[in-house]
Amino acid sequence: MIAKTAPKFTRNALNTFRAPADITRVTGALRSVSRQIALVPTMGALHAGHRELLRRAKRLPNTVVAASIFVNPLQFGAGEDFEAYPRPLERDLAVLDEVGAELAFTPEAADLYPEGATVTVHPGPLGDELEGAVRPGHFAGVLTVVAKLFNIVRPDYAFFGEKDYQQLVLIKKMVRDLNFGTHVIGVPTVREFDGLALSSRNVYLSEREREDAVVLSAALTAGAHAGRRGAEEVLAAAKQVLAAKPAVEVDYLDLRGTDLGPAPVDGEARLLIAARVGSTRLIDNVAVLLGTAADGTQREEWDAGE
Ligand code: PAJ
Repeated sequence: MIAKTAPKFTRNALNTFRAPADITRVTGALRSVSRQIALVPTMGALHAGHRELLRRAKRLPNTVVAASIFVNPLQFGAGEDFEAYPRPLERDLAVLDEVGAELAFTPEAADLYPEGATVTVHPGPLGDELEGAVRPGHFAGVLTVVAKLFNIVRPDYAFFGEKDYQQLVLIKKMVRDLNFGTHVIGVPTVREFDGLALSSRNVYLSEREREDAVVLSAALTAGAHAGRRGAEEVLAAAKQVLAAKPAVEVDYLDLRGTDLGPAPVDGEARLLIAARVGSTRLIDNVAVLLGTAADGTQREEWDAGE
């Protein structure tokens, strides 16, 4: 058998690969000299949220940071924005270089989904709830591409944003249920000055819609502040804020446990929202402490208000 040598890899520089087999060989060679691999999967159009994931990955010692850029057709439904999704590849590669990523994986659809590929990852019941109820098949598409990326790159660590909270929960579940060896690390949501969660889709918003869009995070914050008074009050407080912007059409507003099962009476929970602002669909979520778990958590704010 002829041993296949790894393609060229230059340390402290960005090395870009399109072919899955090439990046697999490079990460294999790096692992054989005891370097760890951290992967940040993205669909590109990189913003400060993605940068934060990359920065966290860079903090790991003895670790090469890899980012994938792939607008995954499998996770877009009919009539969604697959064609329109921004693809500023040159700028994205410059961002990766600037933050010190050393590997970029930029496959084309034919590289990941060769003709005849039909096997996918089934997310289980949670895949049909919340985002999954509005976007059938979305999470099967996400989990399938993430499973493929994990198999191709074989990362020790992979970073995902809490911004897509249900995605993060499902990826952690896939890793556990299917025995992937990758450690999945969740990163808190990066926001604009007024609270709007950064998203590649924010570029679709008109000036007016951008003003309206702030109601999502404002409603979540109001809900979180009502945590001491229980689940019903959390939802009521969020709805009251949303009522001020009737142009924002809410798909769902839901309070769940941190694993997206039922919310506890006392303890940590997650408040999630999806809404349409004009023709743009936005999602956001925050942590909520319910009941007595909320005690003693507002001190700084209270002190500041005195
Ligand atoms: P994409 O939307 O490009 O997001 C890539 C990663 O960045 C995800 O883990 C997402 O949660 C995170 N992210 C996005 N906005 C963020 C913000 N404001 N703060 C913190 N993190 C943020 O999510 C996907 O791509 C795809 O579904 C993918 C996982 C790549 C599979 O195709």
